Amino acid sequence: MTEYNNLFNRHFASSERLRKRAKQKIPKFSYEYLIEGCMDDIGLHRNRLAFNSIKFTPEYIRPNLTPDLSCSLFGSPYSAPFGMAPIGLQGLMWPNAPVILAKAAYKHNIPFILSTVSSESLERISEVSNGTAWYQLYNPTESAILSDLLSRLNSAQYKHLVITIDVPTFGLRPRDFHNGLAMPPKLTVKNIWQAILRPHWSLSTIKYGLPRFKNLESYTGTKNKKLELTEFMNTTTMGPLDFDSLMSIRNKWPHKLIIKGITNELDLQKAIKLGADGVILSNHGARQLDLGEATLPLLTRFSSYQEKIPITIDSGIRSGADIAGAYGLGAKFSFLGRFFMFSVCALGEEGADHAIYLLKAQLTQVMQQIGAKTIKDLHGKVTLSN
Ligand SMILES: Cc1cc2nc3c(=O)[nH]c(=O)nc-3n(C[C@H](O)[C@H](O)[C@H](O)COP(=O)(O)O)c2cc1C
Repeated sequence: MTEYNNLFNRHFASSERLRKRAKQKIPKFSYEYLIEGCMDDIGLHRNRLAFNSIKFTPEYIRPNLTPDLSCSLFGSPYSAPFGMAPIGLQGLMWPNAPVILAKAAYKHNIPFILSTVSSESLERISEVSNGTAWYQLYNPTESAILSDLLSRLNSAQYKHLVITIDVPTFGLRPRDFHNGLAMPPKLTVKNIWQAILRPHWSLSTIKYGLPRFKNLESYTGTKNKKLELTEFMNTTTMGPLDFDSLMSIRNKWPHKLIIKGITNELDLQKAIKLGADGVILSNHGARQLDLGEATLPLLTRFSSYQEKIPITIDSGIRSGADIAGAYGLGAKFSFLGRFFMFSVCALGEEGADHAIYLLKAQLTQVMQQIGAKTIKDLHGKVTLSN
């Protein structure tokens, strides 16, 4: 038993159970937006295969221990080595999801990263997270928008800026094309029918309103205009990602700067040269480049850089065991995207606390098995099978 075992909903004690429940609770077009990778979904499987190849070395003949999950990242203490990855359009999957998750992250002292293309404004998220939320930036196409965003982030007390570099073009996602995903959602007969089949989602959507790009609508005027998702991204958020453009953001941002989307050594070296405070090894949950690299094996490949820059990871993480494995292989922190969304879509407000307690219970259980009192003791207890 771990101290967290009585704190999560015992009917949904795994990512798979949460995913299945989420599928029953939200309309098909939202569910497919959440689960898909891109093109043929090969990368999604690669991500999971990598985490499934983790092997722990247990140790049983020793005194009992109570694991301590706490850690620090970029000088801030956190209650556990995981946080919430940025997810665009969270409100499309579960109404008010960004607020639900940001509040829970603050309460449990873990990071919440707000997406540029969130359905909630950065000002409101700062308010509900007491200024602790992080902000993920897609470099805007117009420099005036960038300046305004940076000044809003400053006023709202953000201290962490995560620049996502892996969207030079928007991932080709067959299900989104088929569903005609637009913002706000198109009220086609098919979409309305899918929503009618999910009354809890529909009633919550009536309560909170159809999701909008609240951070960007003042720049794009999308309030009244429906744009296909791809069109929106291509016209608003596809600003330059070359070294000089990133350096210019570095020079304007005095707080922590994190580069997200690193999957190769050259980009890692450039992030270090930029003076980034950290990186997230990420393939965007396999939503951008279908036949790209899984991130987990990169931890060992990039081990010589761990002294130079804090390396964190996402893409494919679904449990506390995965977090333990990533930490043991050198990741200072793990971020999860779909896992938190599955939980909120499955259980509504309760889903955010549930997800955090479940991850802590799983992580604690693994640490007890392998005899790790602190998360640093995970080092040396993890290998990858071929
Ligand atoms: C539905 C969805 C939307 C996403 N939107 C964004 C986004 O707006 N910005 C971003 O940097 N990453 C985005 N990501 C990628 C996540 O931040 C993260 O890299 C990914 O979810 C990690 O993989 P996982 O879902 O397997 O945990 C999105 C991922 C999903 C599943």
